[in-house]
Amino acid sequence: MCGIVGYIGNGEAYPVLIDGLKQLEYRGYDSAGIALVDGNGRLNVYKEKGKVADLEKHIADRDKSGHTGIAHTRWATHGEPGAVNAHPHVSSSGRFALVHNGIIENYAVIRENLKKKGYEFRSATDTEVLVQLIDYIASRDDADTVAVLQCALKEVVGAYAIALVDMEHPDCLYAARKSSPLVIGMKDNDFYLASDVNPIAAYTDRVVYLEDEEIASMHYGDRLRIVNLSNAECSHEVMTVSKNLGRAEKGGFGHYMLKEIFEQPDCIRDCMRGRVDPEAGTVTLSAVRDHRERLLSAGRFIIVACGTSWHAGLIGKQLFEDLCRIPVEVAYASEFRYSNPVIRSTDVVFAISQSGETADTLAAIELARSAGAFVYGICNAVGASIPRATDTGSYIHVGPEIGVASTKAFTGQVTVLAMIALDLAREKHTLDGERHAALVRELAGIPDKMREVLKTDTVIGSLSRIFTYAKNFIYLGRGYSYPVALEGALKLKEISYIHAEGYPAAEMKHGPIALIDEEMPVVIIATRNAMYGKILSNVQEIKARKGKVIAIVTEGDDVISRIADVSVEIPGTAECLDPLLATIPLQLLAYHIAVCKGKDVDRPRNLAKSVTVE
Ligand code: G6P
Repeated sequence: MCGIVGYIGNGEAYPVLIDGLKQLEYRGYDSAGIALVDGNGRLNVYKEKGKVADLEKHIADRDKSGHTGIAHTRWATHGEPGAVNAHPHVSSSGRFALVHNGIIENYAVIRENLKKKGYEFRSATDTEVLVQLIDYIASRDDADTVAVLQCALKEVVGAYAIALVDMEHPDCLYAARKSSPLVIGMKDNDFYLASDVNPIAAYTDRVVYLEDEEIASMHYGDRLRIVNLSNAECSHEVMTVSKNLGRAEKGGFGHYMLKEIFEQPDCIRDCMRGRVDPEAGTVTLSAVRDHRERLLSAGRFIIVACGTSWHAGLIGKQLFEDLCRIPVEVAYASEFRYSNPVIRSTDVVFAISQSGETADTLAAIELARSAGAFVYGICNAVGASIPRATDTGSYIHVGPEIGVASTKAFTGQVTVLAMIALDLAREKHTLDGERHAALVRELAGIPDKMREVLKTDTVIGSLSRIFTYAKNFIYLGRGYSYPVALEGALKLKEISYIHAEGYPAAEMKHGPIALIDEEMPVVIIATRNAMYGKILSNVQEIKARKGKVIAIVTEGDDVISRIADVSVEIPGTAECLDPLLATIPLQLLAYHIAVCKGKDVDRPRNLAKSVTVE
């Protein structure tokens, strides 16, 4: 949801900025821009519609010198994508250049007031309003830049992460945040600024995470200074981040998404490392160990999340209820936060988020904590806002996920949820010892079975071609497979732009069955489990109406695979772990259909990887 990069130091700013933008492109890619202060104290601003590569091409022959600069890759909120609305925005006087991630909710009122004072606006963005407000306050008050920013930011309602260049102080870079992430890296005389730590990690391992309503001044040759909006000095622990965070590379795959699908066996092994002991039949999560009493005495669990993470939450509900007998509610974070929910101090709220930055999930956490609930985060991005806002948590440890359509993070989230459920089930004695040990062993064996599932890639690649014609898809599953159906449908929608609906298979009779005809592909998760007989009836109902059935079946199945038009075999596993395997063919199906349709799989239209606005 917009990526910000900034640099001030001894080196040339441009290579740091352009490289940083490429690493943050998952956050938005409808336009990009850069502002550089050159050696003569001139501000050069370049913007281009489209991807970072388009900007790079556009400015290949331009002056890109300078030791200070800010840059931005945009996911449009106010104003359509295009060079005019792209950031950086420069104030009318030419004194300030600003990049912004977030939404200024009261921008219209501020703009009207500024218009009355003679300000003219070139773009339709809320960001231009903010830079003009800063300009106005600077011209009105005889104050330093930080005081100007404090005054301006007190006037705005909404979310922001900003980086600002003040041409009257070109040896300083300014940044501020509220509800949108910003990280500052430090090395000798150099300061790096970015929306996440990845663009910084290649240069330094010393970082500071800016907190809400704080303003940072990065003065060349001086120390980092951070104050809040009331001008109190804020001290921050300098954190050490791994230099091996690793640049995300495609590693020979055509797209990040495919690479991330294929990484799943290794990622899930990493996720379980040191936590799952198949020999002893135990799972040990430090967060569960450290907060055992709080978790075991919970009256109820509430899971909050958005998008794919919400689908993982639906599986989490079944795992916790099935294995631990703990009542669970699952809510979209965006609904939960405004629904006046009943939250008790005995509740434990699980917040699931790949990015750890989703604005609605963060707000749901704040609400839960203010009601006295205990909050447990399940995140991927280390050090992001959600892991810092929760009482405890477990990282999924699947490495950076760049493809906008989430794949390995989903299986990582389900793995962590299964681990928590198994750890708690042992403490609660809700599973018989042998079954518990068998499930732990089965979980430990999932990476090898995932490798087997990935062998279906060729067959799915060829069958995808047949289905690119489809305008609609239905995905069906029951029990643990129902959220998998939802996730499969979401993947297809996100990257191929084919309308797809996920449904609980038996509910089909109450509506979607009316849609079925010979044009309608129906993907059905029909693995061998307690529901197999019921699913078989559902398959027959679809075939009776000439629907095209693509069935995900357990190896050796000779009943449903004979009735289905196409069947994809996956290894058998425990029913509660089935989603970890059954999801993969659906990821591959969505991927191949989108590729066949010529879509930009890693950067689907209108979507962003990290949604830091409401
Ligand atoms: C966006 C992404 C989805 C993701 C959702 C929640 O919509 O495109 O892939 O599932 O946000 O994100 P989170 O980072 O909180 O898991």
